[in-house]
Amino acid sequence: MAQSLVYGIDVGTTKVVAIAGRVDPRRGWVEVLSMGEAPSYGLKRGVVVDRKAAADSVAEAMEACGVRGGQVTVGIAGSHISSFNTEVTLLNRSRNLTVTDRFVRRLEQEARQLDLDEDERVIHVVPRGYVLDGSEGVKNPVGLAARKVTMRAHVVSGALSSIQNLLRAVEDCGVRVSKIVLEPLASAEACLLDADRESGVVLLDMGGGTTDIATFFRGALTHTAVIPIGGESFTSDVAYGLKIPQHKAEELKLRYGTVLSSNVDPVAAVQLDDRYFNASFISQILEYRAREVLEYVRDSLDQTGMRDLAPGGVVLTGGGSSLDGMTGLAEEVLGMRVRTASPRRVKGEVKPVQKPQYATSVGLLYFSARNDDPRPKGKGAGTISFGSIVEAVKGWFRAK
Ligand SMILES: Nc1ncnc2c1ncn2[C@@H]1O[C@H](COP(=O)(O)OP(=O)(O)OP(=O)(O)O)[C@@H](O)[C@H]1O
Ligand SMILES: [Mg+2]
Repeated sequence: MAQSLVYGIDVGTTKVVAIAGRVDPRRGWVEVLSMGEAPSYGLKRGVVVDRKAAADSVAEAMEACGVRGGQVTVGIAGSHISSFNTEVTLLNRSRNLTVTDRFVRRLEQEARQLDLDEDERVIHVVPRGYVLDGSEGVKNPVGLAARKVTMRAHVVSGALSSIQNLLRAVEDCGVRVSKIVLEPLASAEACLLDADRESGVVLLDMGGGTTDIATFFRGALTHTAVIPIGGESFTSDVAYGLKIPQHKAEELKLRYGTVLSSNVDPVAAVQLDDRYFNASFISQILEYRAREVLEYVRDSLDQTGMRDLAPGGVVLTGGGSSLDGMTGLAEEVLGMRVRTASPRRVKGEVKPVQKPQYATSVGLLYFSARNDDPRPKGKGAGTISFGSIVEAVKGWFRAK
């Protein structure tokens, strides 16, 4: 069966990616048909701080991808995100006691009504498992008989203002946001296998503005967190330490950076333009920052005991994971097995997509193709009210 086209926009802190493709959810692959990228202006630590600048970056990425209008799925991160595990119980009053899709949606709706602050909105309700009349461990209750059904769920929420600012910057470009996805969940979709999630695994997306965590155990999402430190902080530290502009520090980091300072000759020099810098000093700056981020990650994992529950180890992705020595340092600080990963199961001619910094973008396509978690509803949750997500996609894909 032909799969319909789906679209994603990853509004990152350092780059915006617009992506178009097809997904076969049954066989679990994605075909990337087009991708456009632009430098990101207007974001800080994962959130929009300048609507016009952010919208210009989105428009440039859309233009490069060939997207002109229609519905898109957008990634969200930033320190305004919070998440928690909860459960809701409803009585099934149907005569034959069968749990239906509709009943499960009611449970999810119920979880969305949870007591949040006035200025917060639920972004995801991810079911983790069901209890049917006291029997634990049910993964899919549809079609089973039960009177009392409890859904355990992981709920992700965000600040209404940050959600709105992101929606507006994207919708300023003539598209409609039909879904918002927490970025590490999108990255996880692109990089992890079901077997990883089953055995227990930690997904760590080290981006430019934030470091994002999603953990899975027995196939279910157990924990998410966003740490507002990313590759840009590493670069700023180098710029500050060497008293050089940010873009020069970025160049030095990309060319010579490592977080394993003990491997660097203390008197070695590296050259940029006509200046020489002490390589060991640069690596010490980077290692200090890397340890700080990884210690935050360790503390976050310890909140849920995930360091002991993840035989699949840590899967490192995002642009920051490419910094030399990061895998080894993460193993040391977290005391876990660590490997880097790029999007898997990608078909199509768009090759650059198979790099860690495109994990979120590819994952957005998977979410775009799924029939769940529409954008947050409620008073003032967006600039346009939520409509049907199966609304026809209007001619918005420029033939290439
Ligand atoms: N080869 C590399 N070595 C070191 N750092 C790298 C490398 N490639 C990319 N980075 C860093 O990765 C960061 C960008 O990562 P990524 O593209 O995943 O972020 P983003 O999606 O724009 O931001 P975020 O998701 O945090 O909002 C930058 O800070 C960049 O310096
Ligand atoms: Mg990102």
